[in-house]
Amino acid sequence: MVSVSVSVSKPILQPTKLQDHKFTSFSLPRNVSFQGRLGIRFLRHGSLREVRITRSSFQPDVLVVADSPDEASQVPVFSCSEAIERLKTFRENQKGKQKFLAMYSSVLGGITTDPAAMVIPMDDHMVHRGHGVFDTAAIMDGHLYELDQHLDRILRSASMVRVDLPFDRESIKRILIQTVSVAKCQKGSLRYWLSVGPGDFQLSPSDCHDPALYAIVIQDQSPFVSKGIKVITSSIPIKPPLFATVKSVNYLPNVLSKMEAEDSGAFAAIWLDNYGFVAEGPNMNVAFVTKEKYLLMPQFDKILSGCTAKRVLTLAEGMVRGGNLQGIRIRNVTVEEGKQAEEMMLIGSGILVRPVVQWDDQVIGDGKEGPVAKHLLDLLLEDMKSGTPTVRMPVP
Ligand SMILES: Cc1ncc(COP(=O)(O)O)c(C=O)c1O
Repeated sequence: MVSVSVSVSKPILQPTKLQDHKFTSFSLPRNVSFQGRLGIRFLRHGSLREVRITRSSFQPDVLVVADSPDEASQVPVFSCSEAIERLKTFRENQKGKQKFLAMYSSVLGGITTDPAAMVIPMDDHMVHRGHGVFDTAAIMDGHLYELDQHLDRILRSASMVRVDLPFDRESIKRILIQTVSVAKCQKGSLRYWLSVGPGDFQLSPSDCHDPALYAIVIQDQSPFVSKGIKVITSSIPIKPPLFATVKSVNYLPNVLSKMEAEDSGAFAAIWLDNYGFVAEGPNMNVAFVTKEKYLLMPQFDKILSGCTAKRVLTLAEGMVRGGNLQGIRIRNVTVEEGKQAEEMMLIGSGILVRPVVQWDDQVIGDGKEGPVAKHLLDLLLEDMKSGTPTVRMPVP
């Protein structure tokens, strides 16, 4: 319950500290309105000198005192230490499922475990021009899964978009492992970015002289889900191959495609390529099982080469040997073929293997989670928990 009292008293031109409160917007009497969150406060149309706000049993805070609307609408100016305090409060008040355990920044030249300090410079070319690449690696039982494979991909992406490396491959790998080690993370993910770095706000990166590496360790205890999901065909245009095959930070089409799916109650929207063949999802690859029991996957020439999908292809060879699959085919897949498949699944490091039970209005197979998707998920989980050192790296 928020109550507002208005009084006229000694003018204080400096807005005072705002702690413990998060505000939405509400109206004040006499056409004065207030909206505040983390120190951004506005007072309009009024000659009031002081506004107090009280929230349930907290002590009132003096929020805005001013003689004129101009003074009152001033945005607070913080010193470095005050700004850091604000960032700390922001992080403390943030309620999310994920915890950010550690961040490495080449700008800092080290690792921090304080989420308030997990920031990157505004003038980094990656921030204001999207000139950067990123990748991930899952953390399972304190081991990094497929780090080398993801590292190879980020280095390939960096070279495709002309981002120089701040360090050589081995140093990057050592930094990433050390960041996870400091985080003491057992389950979650490591995400990392390579960028041309800070410099200025020009389009050209010619004045960005120090390429940057950033990495963050995110704890995520939620289990991998195997329940079947619905997908739709994306109406958001697919990225052209040059941009779809690089894992850059330009994920606007991917975000819009995901939002489009959520709007219609689906989990993801599937892209078709410019020839109408099945391409990929916004952050996952797609695979099918044909009625003849072939595992079918679109080729990777116009989409991101998924590390998980490639691992699944390797693990599926065991299913072929065991007679659970007839074979594996990587080729163009038509929508018709996909929709008539016995099984459909999404594959990616965030979801592992997720069965699809409906695509647009078409029920896939018998509308239930299929045995091949289930088998592949089990194989992948087993691989993450006890795979060979080529895919599973212990974090000291
Ligand atoms: C567009 C896109 N396709 C596919 C994938 C799956 O790749 P991976 O299995 O390496 O996570 C991703 C992963 O982020 C992606 O962004």
